[in-house]
Amino acid sequence: MSSEPHRPVTAVIVVAAGSGERLGYGMPKAAVPLGDEPILLHALRGVVASGVASQVCIALPAGHDALKQLVDDFRLELVDGGPVLTVVDGGASRSDSVRSALAAVETGTEAVLVHDAARALTPEYVFHRVVDSLAAGALAVIPAVPVVDTVKTVAPTTGEGGRIAPEIVTGTAPRESLRAVQTPQGFHLPTLVKAHEAAMNLADEQAAAVTDDAMLVELLGVPVHAVHGSTQSLKITTPLDLIIAEGLLEGPLGVRWVEG
Ligand code: CTP
Ligand code: MG
Repeated sequence: MSSEPHRPVTAVIVVAAGSGERLGYGMPKAAVPLGDEPILLHALRGVVASGVASQVCIALPAGHDALKQLVDDFRLELVDGGPVLTVVDGGASRSDSVRSALAAVETGTEAVLVHDAARALTPEYVFHRVVDSLAAGALAVIPAVPVVDTVKTVAPTTGEGGRIAPEIVTGTAPRESLRAVQTPQGFHLPTLVKAHEAAMNLADEQAAAVTDDAMLVELLGVPVHAVHGSTQSLKITTPLDLIIAEGLLEGPLGVRWVEG
């Protein structure tokens, strides 16, 4: 009998329904060009190249025909045996988009990875680390990298102090235990479904503070494991991030050779 761990049947949810306000291109971020191709296409190429997905479920801005066409064209590029590509309408919040995609995951799926299209240059090895951890028994796993800046908490300055500076430092977080969290985040499917069902009962203020899926699983009390991510998995958010991503693509050895 083989001692290889069971590889879960895995769907990758790619959330691409955001409006890209901070990038400021006046179009959804997924459609913004990075090098010669839209951000979404880079993200999909990365997911498919990793080989972990039996299905890729993509949440797009509702009614965005050009992005839908892009997925249809990409489907034609895939050789036989590639993953099933499913498109769904995203929602008003990232969590809504994840829920919409979760509802379209095929029967028989055991694990789900949730990935930001905005992390378009995520290396294949990050997908593998996440899936390996799920195969080893994790119910939830996130890629994370050490924080390079010193991180402090602050509060608005009150009274006279406001003339000196707008905020006052209230503490310094211990940097060695801080991690910046990335995607793809991997989950045992029933665990993520349960976490998102519970999220429907959160107060509006709590729901607005949810920035990733692992937070919802933490609220269930399920342990969330962390594997090492990559600095290449930057989330393209601002124009500066786009410049960095362009630089990675144009590097002399090509983006997939940059370690870190
Ligand atoms: N996302 C989504 N549905 C939403 C909001 C966000 O699918 N309603 C996706 C984005 O497309 C992105 C990822 O979640 O791939 C992370 O979100 P973010 O980086 O904030 O992207 P945007 O919401 O598009 O950007 P901004 O907040 O600047 O408008
Ligand atoms: Mg956003």
